[in-house]
Amino acid sequence: MKFASRMECLQDKALLNAMELTETEDMISFSAGFPSPETYPVEEIKESFDQVLDREGKEALSYCSTSGFGKLREIIADRMKNKFGLNYRTEEVVITSGSQQALDMSSMLFINKGDVVLFETPSYLGAVNALRAYEAELVALPTDREGLILDALKKALDQYGDRVKLIYVIPDFQNPTGRSWSPERREAFVEFISDYEIPVIEDAAYSELSFEDKLEKPLSYYDKKGQVVYVGTFSKTFCPGLRVAWLCARENLMEKYLILKNAADLSSSAIAQRQMANYLMHNDLDAHIKWITGLYKERRDCMMVVIDREFPKEAHYVIPKGGLFIWLELPENKDSRELLRRAMAEKVAFIPGGSFYPSGVKNNELRLNFSNLSHDDIEKGMTILGRLTRAYLAE
Ligand SMILES: Cc1ncc(COP(=O)(O)O)c(C=O)c1O
Repeated sequence: MKFASRMECLQDKALLNAMELTETEDMISFSAGFPSPETYPVEEIKESFDQVLDREGKEALSYCSTSGFGKLREIIADRMKNKFGLNYRTEEVVITSGSQQALDMSSMLFINKGDVVLFETPSYLGAVNALRAYEAELVALPTDREGLILDALKKALDQYGDRVKLIYVIPDFQNPTGRSWSPERREAFVEFISDYEIPVIEDAAYSELSFEDKLEKPLSYYDKKGQVVYVGTFSKTFCPGLRVAWLCARENLMEKYLILKNAADLSSSAIAQRQMANYLMHNDLDAHIKWITGLYKERRDCMMVVIDREFPKEAHYVIPKGGLFIWLELPENKDSRELLRRAMAEKVAFIPGGSFYPSGVKNNELRLNFSNLSHDDIEKGMTILGRLTRAYLAE
């Protein structure tokens, strides 16, 4: 059979493999990007589904409007205003089937074959794949501890000119590094980019998973032009299985997004959306988030204790102040794929850092998920990984 040329751009199966590894028995896997299933509020969700089916069963089992269930969009717009100071009207919110769909739709909207997308690296594999599916040329922009490096952005804009069609960033507790942009860098970035007519996708998947009380203002907060498209999701704060997420864009862009959403799947699941709205009306999601961030913070701390105790001092990391990951850097002449090979033989897995670079040039880093494992597993798995790393670095 002949396949579309885009399939040649989609050869990296690291994400697929990582998702499968988490289901392998006996494996202590630090690979997943999942929240911890024990945090999913199963009883409340069950009750909420029951209520929806009792009260609005026919509507819930029907098609929904393409933009999504109105009440849910209204609650999301209010929530974003209260939490982040964002001013989106209900009409500027569309419900998507996971934020992955929002990334896919954004690629579909802006990218023709060979167009350039600038994005901070390392970056989320799912976004790399969504963009590659439209045959974009991915141009990596370096980051430092404050966020995207603006000099590098300027250079890339000068070099690629009109070919640049999109910028993709994750300013909060980034996947894979766990780092966040500083408020100064956020503001400076939006001011700088406002001189260009290039849309920016702000992926806020982890923005609410802060281990400190403070939430940073999103890029969209500083955006006066309607240039930033904001993508949020309930996958990390609630549960990923319902596939309820959202995209916010100003009216002119929203019209186009709705055409694409309609073509993609007509609408997101009506029952999942109504359940979500019902849950939000009768439960305190913020209290739930406070509980899960408390749990993840303890797991992060547990992982840091084992790293500090078991790993050689040449392995560096920055303490993540939220999110799900620790990003570990080995000396530049070492390859985390070799470490993975040895770790797998002892039933420990993680994702090698090279997978998070579109060109795969850097291979001395690794992503470790801490949200999804018990303290015992973190202790056991990281002790093994520490021993293997010590031996590998000594060679
Ligand atoms: C940065 C980022 N964006 C988007 C997603 C997709 O999430 P979902 O489609 O479940 O909303 C993920 C999932 O891991 C992610 O890490």
